[in-house]
Amino acid sequence: MFDSIRVFAPATVANVVCGFDILGFAVDAPGDEVLMTRTDTPGVRIRRITGDNGRLPLDAAHNTVSASVQQLLRHLGREDVGLDIELHKQMPIGSGLGSSAASTVAGLVAANALLGQPLTPLQLLPFAMLGEELACGTGHADNVAPALLGGFVLIRSYEPLDVVRLPFPPELYCAIVFPDVEVPTRDARQLIRRTVLLKDAVTQWGNVAGLVSGLFLNDTALIGRSMQDVLVEPARAILIPDFYRLRELAMAAGAIGFGISGSGPSVFAFAHDAATAHAITERLQQHLTSLQVGSQAYVSPINAQGPKVLRHELV
Ligand code: HSE
Repeated sequence: MFDSIRVFAPATVANVVCGFDILGFAVDAPGDEVLMTRTDTPGVRIRRITGDNGRLPLDAAHNTVSASVQQLLRHLGREDVGLDIELHKQMPIGSGLGSSAASTVAGLVAANALLGQPLTPLQLLPFAMLGEELACGTGHADNVAPALLGGFVLIRSYEPLDVVRLPFPPELYCAIVFPDVEVPTRDARQLIRRTVLLKDAVTQWGNVAGLVSGLFLNDTALIGRSMQDVLVEPARAILIPDFYRLRELAMAAGAIGFGISGSGPSVFAFAHDAATAHAITERLQQHLTSLQVGSQAYVSPINAQGPKVLRHELV
């Protein structure tokens, strides 16, 4: 057993355009790191947070990392355990890249490892969902499930929880651009209509089935055709500077498909290779600059591995 562990958990793209709350995938970068140390004093404490500009709570009951780890200890009957946490944010908050999910998952994976792996990654998922509930009011799993399991994930059902790992074409690259405007997930969820028309539902589930089929068939054209959202994107597009022009530019630069990452404001595109993905991010950033909006870009393959233990040692 190790007394100190450092874990990285990846950013994630949730929804994947048509699969609101049910589809997501992990990327290699960015992501967050947690350094967790076992101590003799029972309880979970946040000792330090870096990279958040002082915005995240240090209070253990309100921080998503410590709160979900506390729930895990309670579930395991191990409230005698003491855990000190350092959270190193390496990705923007409120970006639509699963920032809270990456932190929470890194914390849960670290705690589970320090306790001798009592739970499987899948068994950690409900605790990660509690973290999401604290962060945005809803325990959606489409960021935490891929952050925890890696790869492309479908949440087939929430009650009962039924999670399916999907295959994906190995050459698929993801281009992400984060425009420098903040969209809290909690607010972005309030924009969505609560009822849908049957004809829109038919279009949407056709696209979800098409996207999943495309992943199984390695059919990138089908994946691209299916990346359309008639339910959520029309409401959220207004939160993103010049969203529809960004889509045109991404498609003209060779994107397979384009859309909002999670609840935004990040946008993402799939591309056939790294060079095209870079060309897409450059074009989108150029356009945002012309609108006087700063941005950050990330290019990454889909991350099949999920969380990574960076270091563990006996103190
Ligand atoms: N499915 C969630 C939403 C993801 O769209 O609100 C948040 O990142």
